[in-house]
Amino acid sequence: MLGNDVPPTVAECRVCGGAVQECLDFGQQPVSSAFVDPDRADAEVFFRLAVGFCTTCTMVQQLEEVPRDQMFRLDYPYRSSGSAVMRKHFEQTARHLLETELTGPDPFAVEVGSNDGILLQDIANAGIRHLGVDPSGGAATVARAKGIRVRVEFFEETSARAIRAENGPADVIFSANTISHIAYIGSIFRGVDALLAPNGVFIFEDRYLGDIIEHTYFDQIYDEHFYLFSIQSVQAMAATYGFSLINAERLSVHGGAVRYTVARTGSREPDPAVAELLAREHALGLGTPDTYERFAANISRTRDDLVALLHDLRSKGHTIVGYGATAKSATVANYCGIGPDLISAVFDSTAEKQGRLTPGSHIPVLSPEEFGNPYPDYALLFAWNHADEIMAKERRFRENGGRWILYVPDVHIV
Ligand code: SAM
Ligand code: TMP
Ligand code: ZN
Repeated sequence: MLGNDVPPTVAECRVCGGAVQECLDFGQQPVSSAFVDPDRADAEVFFRLAVGFCTTCTMVQQLEEVPRDQMFRLDYPYRSSGSAVMRKHFEQTARHLLETELTGPDPFAVEVGSNDGILLQDIANAGIRHLGVDPSGGAATVARAKGIRVRVEFFEETSARAIRAENGPADVIFSANTISHIAYIGSIFRGVDALLAPNGVFIFEDRYLGDIIEHTYFDQIYDEHFYLFSIQSVQAMAATYGFSLINAERLSVHGGAVRYTVARTGSREPDPAVAELLAREHALGLGTPDTYERFAANISRTRDDLVALLHDLRSKGHTIVGYGATAKSATVANYCGIGPDLISAVFDSTAEKQGRLTPGSHIPVLSPEEFGNPYPDYALLFAWNHADEIMAKERRFRENGGRWILYVPDVHIV
């Protein structure tokens, strides 16, 4: 637990129905991507951000579900293509799909959570039948402008059946950084079952629980990340719905992720990588309460260190800003009590976030063009997963004597 007063609760696992034991409580948190209009700052929605693990299937999951249309809607501001590293990652992923799963006659690819079309653009350009499904209308408009077909709705059993009726079966259903966001996971798997060709594959990438615990990436916990997947829990989840985990690949993006490939049970041979990663994972103790107690202690220490450092720097008259108005930063700012008194502004390249206030903490979001007017003394890097890209872009900040503050894997200055 993290020092809050609410007693831990036991809930029912959203995957297997087993008992979920609460292990982390971040208190009241805003919707992480609901950037606030400065004139309407009193209309925010808060929820309790608490996490538990299932004592049966080991799935780590939240205890309260934020209604999906409060998170993903017309004005959802996240745009996947803001990062050159992620553009390259998805270009390579699209090429991989084109060379492996999309080689038959008239193949059909569906993406769940296609956002601004970062992945599908290369599949569309290759002339392959495709369909993106994403409820966030603003992002879908950007994708459509690239010539990509998108249905603006939630993927679930009903929409999957409609897609199947209109387009026939899908050879591959791909998804990145979206399946772990979907609490109603049974409907997703029933939808995949309805839409996927008999020998098709469902491939999804998501943050890896092993990395989150090992490196104290506590800010990977926010409303959208309803589940924190591991190899073991995904294997159990797939089996619950008649599928098998047939491959698992470690990815370096977003601080550490895994690309899971699942297929109908019996339709494909599992790759030896699954057993290898599972064996390695057992050593991490992801299913045991001790692990979460240690994780909670590390999180509390990071909070104390970060708050102490920011207060110390401010008391000495230094200026501090944030960099990257990430969804992750909502957990950091609201859990640590960081507001405009400590951090005067957060710089972010997303036009949809600029001119607004950060959720809950109400720090103004500004364009990176204003970062050097004048440079602050310190910048807290909320977008630490894009550190190389941002530090290279903002080289002049350090040349001018500025220093970056990082809080993962622990609080340090570079
Ligand atoms: N795939 C992109 C990437 O990896 O950068 C976007 C990830 S973004 C964090 C999650 C996306 O999933 C959002 O665009 C959101 O609207 C979408 N989403 C959420 N629930 C969904 C659902 N049930 N079906 C389809 N898309 C969904
Ligand atoms: P993410 O960690 O969820 O991908 O969000 C990254 C945020 O950081 C997003 O709001 C865009 C912002 N960003 C910049 O401001 N500059 C950059 O160079 C990069 C890569 C991201
Ligand atoms: Zn379970």
